[in-house]
Amino acid sequence: MGWPYIGETLQFYSQDPNVFFSSKQKRYGEIFKTHILGCPCVMLASPEAARFVLVTQAHLFKPTYPKSKELMIGPSALFFHQGNYHTRLRKLVQSSLSPDSIRSLVPDIEAIAVSALESWAGSGIINTFHEMKKFSFDVGIVSILGQLDDYYKEQLKKNYYIVDKGYNSFPTNIPGTQYDNAVLARKRLSQILSEIICERKEKKMVGKELLGGLMNSKDEKGQPLTDDQIADNIIGVLFAAQDTTASVLTWILKFLHDNPKLLEAVKAEQKAIYKSNDEGSLPLTWTQTRNMLLTYKVILESLRMASIISFTFREAVADVEYKGYLIPKGWKVMPLFRNIHHNPEFFSDPHKFDPSRFEVAPKPNTFMPFGTGVHACPGNELAKLEILILIHHLVTKFRWKVVGSQSGIQYGPFPIPQHGLPARFWKESATY
Ligand code: HEM
Repeated sequence: MGWPYIGETLQFYSQDPNVFFSSKQKRYGEIFKTHILGCPCVMLASPEAARFVLVTQAHLFKPTYPKSKELMIGPSALFFHQGNYHTRLRKLVQSSLSPDSIRSLVPDIEAIAVSALESWAGSGIINTFHEMKKFSFDVGIVSILGQLDDYYKEQLKKNYYIVDKGYNSFPTNIPGTQYDNAVLARKRLSQILSEIICERKEKKMVGKELLGGLMNSKDEKGQPLTDDQIADNIIGVLFAAQDTTASVLTWILKFLHDNPKLLEAVKAEQKAIYKSNDEGSLPLTWTQTRNMLLTYKVILESLRMASIISFTFREAVADVEYKGYLIPKGWKVMPLFRNIHHNPEFFSDPHKFDPSRFEVAPKPNTFMPFGTGVHACPGNELAKLEILILIHHLVTKFRWKVVGSQSGIQYGPFPIPQHGLPARFWKESATY
């Protein structure tokens, strides 16, 4: 458990968290305890234990986030809750992001992808992660809010950027600090969303996208959601969508860049679709995105290798016994996805990037890049769709070269390639 009060916080933050987890696992096995950021924690590195906490006994473990983060995103966002309110919100989010709902987004996502790629080509060295964040934000906006006025889009972007910058800074209300600026920007985001809601109500433009679903929802007593509840969930979903998808996309570009043979094979798969679309003059179809078999395996293997959500947090709501171990009430519980994804028992030669391993389905509960159980990611189909579309346009019309030879990992807080993967992009027809 480390030192009194600080526990093992310093070790956790001063070394690569993956080294911290795996050295503990080697020493103590698949279940061990520690003390981080003032909280006693139980870490679980086996598929059965992850299932126990997240699926079969999920009611005994509630979601838990630092208060400052909860306030910044919005306390009514679904992922802070469990029980009836969570179930109600989750149904709305899930149905707005289901394959049936997102299939009509293909042309919008295509337009965003092409415009992003065009802007990178010839722009000199870009920070891949930062650009991927802009891409996933734009896709998030269109899928959550539908078609939106440029004025509102700019306002949301400007203020969300300030919130994003302050999210991981030290929580204080001293004016002028990043955190305080972020709190003010978060208030403005709520106001902008209220204006959008008001305008849509007036014009009777309540659509089928998430905002429309939230505006139409009534509880069992016929009560609608308040504007604040709607805003917290819109910001929450945008937040859950942006850095996650951008980190995975950045890793995919690195893995493809580092594996030229694989890149050629992906290119061949995508060029065949491009040709059948009259050399790219016809739009991509939903069915085509469902038949990008190799590219899909590259995405799965990137999700496994990068395991950008290395673990999740819950808190025991009662004393719980698991396989003879006592998990005391109030302790944090952390299922360690990354350790499971990198365990040679489930994925042979786990540090090798090998998409062909997904020709066979992984064993149950050993592959959880989108989590599992009642809080599993409702945006996973959208994330995969936008990644497939971006890769299609990237490899059929553009090329890219990673700049610099740094091979490290940066945590912000998700793992991403060092310095956000600086790279140069150009059109295939142009000479570099
Ligand atoms: C590759 C990209 C993504 C990854 C790896 C990812 C991963 C995850 C994981 C692991 C969880 C579960 C966390 C937990 O159990 O504590 C989660 C939850 C969630 N994700 Fe994603 N996600 C991605 C993209 C998205 C997108 C694009 C959206 C929405 C458009 C989204 C919306 C959400 C929401 C709303 C939750 C909370 C669900 C709940 O609490 O019921 N995610 N995500």
